[in-house]
Amino acid sequence: MRTKIAELLKEIEQVEISTKDHLESFRLKYLSKKGLIPSLFNDFKDVAATERKEMGMLLNDLKNHAQTILDKFQDSFTSSTESESKLDTSLPAAGLSGSRHPLSIVRRDINGIFQRLGFVISEGPEIEDDFHNFTALNFPEEHPARDMQDTFFISKNPDIALRTHTSSVQVRIMEQGKLPIRIIAPGRVFRNEAISARAHCIFHQIEGLYIDKNVSFADLKQTLYYFAQEFFGPETKIRFRPSYFPFTETSAEMDVSCNICGGKGCNICKHSGWVEILGCGMVDPNVLEACGIDSNEYSGFAFGMGIERITMMKFQINDLRLFFENDLRFLKQFEAVI
Ligand code: DAH
Repeated sequence: MRTKIAELLKEIEQVEISTKDHLESFRLKYLSKKGLIPSLFNDFKDVAATERKEMGMLLNDLKNHAQTILDKFQDSFTSSTESESKLDTSLPAAGLSGSRHPLSIVRRDINGIFQRLGFVISEGPEIEDDFHNFTALNFPEEHPARDMQDTFFISKNPDIALRTHTSSVQVRIMEQGKLPIRIIAPGRVFRNEAISARAHCIFHQIEGLYIDKNVSFADLKQTLYYFAQEFFGPETKIRFRPSYFPFTETSAEMDVSCNICGGKGCNICKHSGWVEILGCGMVDPNVLEACGIDSNEYSGFAFGMGIERITMMKFQINDLRLFFENDLRFLKQFEAVI
């Protein structure tokens, strides 16, 4: 009996099972009532009393081993055939679960407003060279204006960095030389800043650029006024303050009347009634020339805004880090916004 058990053990280990039929033959041959293993159990009564204990253990091991093999293959066959039969990948999704991230909601809304004005969405690389991020935008080398934006460099000579602003996309579009230009460029930007409630080393901007013949500051004002009213509501007022950016001349920052207190003064607007939302200006002729556009014939305006800042204002969020933590308790609050 001992040799029979050993032989069977070896045999079942070597059986090849690749179809359901193989598996059924295996079951019939070894484990069914008239199978080889149960018939060994029948022979058990003839085993000498002294060997019974040992033989019993060997026999049980054999049976368990065969059963394990059977179960294992049965599982694998049923799970693959079940999923084949139940899963129809051509069916339309039954309603998406989850919700949009607040930054995506705001980006989409801003894009939509400018698209209705005829602006086209453009993109540029997040890893940029010095020319597109700085030099063509009229940041002279060694000029302190470069320190306005603490940069993550990837290599020096040639200088390659993570873009510090989406203004680099302006250069990429102007270089293509197709005029007029009316684009917005949403995207991620990177700055070497300590993370706090008000700053992060990764954030998002939307850049705007409009180049044509006879574009004036009045066009810039009117475009941004339309945007502010569409986005923040028809009561919204705007105001411009003189500012400085190397790539615009004249440069300005635009404030909108605080939509939380209606301009009366609250925590969000630091009791001034106004909130700064973007930088803008007339494209500096040096920038047009660096990108191969004749500045005697063409002029344009540009603007850039931070999506986080606008989202914080819109949803009254007071800590910028919440956008990046993926805390479901925070994200679920935006399920209702579609
Ligand atoms: N690139 C600027 C920044 O990140 C924002 C900006 C200001 C963009 C004025 C513009 C502009 O296009 O005209 O701080």
